[in-house]
Amino acid sequence: MRKQQITKAVIPAAGLGTRFLPVTKASPKEMLPLVDKPLIQYVVEEAVASGIRQIIIITGRGKRAIEDHFDISFELEEILKQTGKKRLLPELRNISEMADFCYIRQSQPQGLGHALLCAKHVIGDEPFAVMLGDDIIDHPKPALKQMVEIYENHHAPIIGIQQVEKSEVHQYGILDASVTKEGLYKIKTLVEKPAVADAPSDLAVIGRYILTPEIFELLEKTPPGKNNEIQLTDALKELAKIKSMYGYRIEGSRYDAGDKLGFLQATVEMGLKNPQLGNKFRNYLKGLSL
Ligand code: G1P
Repeated sequence: MRKQQITKAVIPAAGLGTRFLPVTKASPKEMLPLVDKPLIQYVVEEAVASGIRQIIIITGRGKRAIEDHFDISFELEEILKQTGKKRLLPELRNISEMADFCYIRQSQPQGLGHALLCAKHVIGDEPFAVMLGDDIIDHPKPALKQMVEIYENHHAPIIGIQQVEKSEVHQYGILDASVTKEGLYKIKTLVEKPAVADAPSDLAVIGRYILTPEIFELLEKTPPGKNNEIQLTDALKELAKIKSMYGYRIEGSRYDAGDKLGFLQATVEMGLKNPQLGNKFRNYLKGLSL
């Protein structure tokens, strides 16, 4: 089998963010700030810390702020220089220099599977990562790096998973899988957002995938599924029939930052961990009469 390194990550960011209305009416949800960085910057930083520098962002209408964020801001840099705030420059420059960015427009949001298909011509014939911006995962060893290491041992598609409460299985892709060793599962099949009674397990797909290029052919043949959208899970189900595929239990705290409560949880926990704000924020929280 041909062994290739993972050099590209696709970040689908064309979704409408309906779970987070009204703030997402005119602002991309990917730009919601977690303490002082937009959500999508955490995801790009995770890719870079996992050894991946080529970032392909699938955007859509109303998402220009994402491109501007990862670009150089000449005007801002000039003003900072002139107003004695030069010390802020390296951090800002690093945002545009940490990776190579490529943007593809998905003209109509037709689901995650369709968003991924838009990147087919840029990925070509190599394995690649997919990272969903709603899922913020905090661990000293970046979630994607954990998965890249598993990929390097198995050279098969790897799906990031975590166990969820039974009451939550209807929000996720769920695996039917058998454990091969601690934290690693051989996937028999998957089902997108099943009712609790139909869920084969509590092993939920969270937004990190390492995929092989066969997925594109399968996506092209995948009819609209759940919510009338082309579902990546449905194409993965077909992939599992022709290829060994694994679920890897990602280590780390995971927040669904595309959900209002998940976002608040992430804000509190990341705020507490922030080196500049953590102590003051902790004291503030302790002072609340909850
Ligand atoms: C997507 C996938 C789902 C996965 C989830 C993880 O759903 O379709 O299989 O479990 O991401 O966050 P979405 O949350 O975009 O509806």
